[in-house]
Amino acid sequence: MSPHKSVTDKKLDASRCRLGVNVDHVATLRNARNGDHPDPVRAAQLAAAAGADSITAHLREDRRHIRDDDMYRLNTEVGLPLNFEMAATEEMLKIALDVHPYAVCLVPEKRSEQTTEGGLNVADHKQELIYYVDKLTAAGIRVSLFIDPEIQQVEAARDLGVPVVELHAGAYHEAVHKTQPDLIHQELQKIIASACKGNEIGLEIHAGHGLTFDNVQPVAMVPEVRELNIGHFLVGEAIVMGLDKSVREMRRLIDDARTGTLV
Ligand code: PXP
Repeated sequence: MSPHKSVTDKKLDASRCRLGVNVDHVATLRNARNGDHPDPVRAAQLAAAAGADSITAHLREDRRHIRDDDMYRLNTEVGLPLNFEMAATEEMLKIALDVHPYAVCLVPEKRSEQTTEGGLNVADHKQELIYYVDKLTAAGIRVSLFIDPEIQQVEAARDLGVPVVELHAGAYHEAVHKTQPDLIHQELQKIIASACKGNEIGLEIHAGHGLTFDNVQPVAMVPEVRELNIGHFLVGEAIVMGLDKSVREMRRLIDDARTGTLV
């Protein structure tokens, strides 16, 4: 039995749109100095205390942010369900089966990309994906597929037997960023139509990528969307909101040192 059985047994709140906090970019910052600060596990614990429903982290092939041991610690030291994002590869499958998180989200991965640029083309890669879906499902891990908000992809995901799809909100984010009302409407409609279709055929719908304070509410209003996974903006905003506090603390320590009040 996995050590975090009590966490995975805890039912996720079905009554509201859940918030999954992605801590990848806490690790990006940590890795800039190859040390252990800031710690993504500590960040996940703070997110849990602030009301997050789950934690998401992406173990990329190049380990540019999250490292293997982060995944083990996120799974056992936070007390929230872990959503383990990974590419469909043998290496990742082995690690995921060993970590044994609550959930795995299969995502496409290109080495050269800055972030996950689009959804999985499930419709054209069913044969490759079914192997990973079956192995993870057999291990008792809930599998989701990160897909573009397109009906064809939603139906293909259903054909693979996964219980969850996460809709890539990147195009919607871009439209909001460019303040193009027609495009915003069009991209939002794609999310709504895919969410409705998925819900109708028995899939649980999640969404994520590029969500911010400015663009989250129209997506959160869609009743079929049960969970939002948000990372980069939250970590960026933590710096904006938190820098005042950390600079004040450093100021105090320096001033106290001069007056002989050492910690
Ligand atoms: N969901 C998935 C499947 C992702 O790959 C990502 C980005 O890694 C996110 C959500 C979070 O996106 P963002 O960091 O832009 O909020």
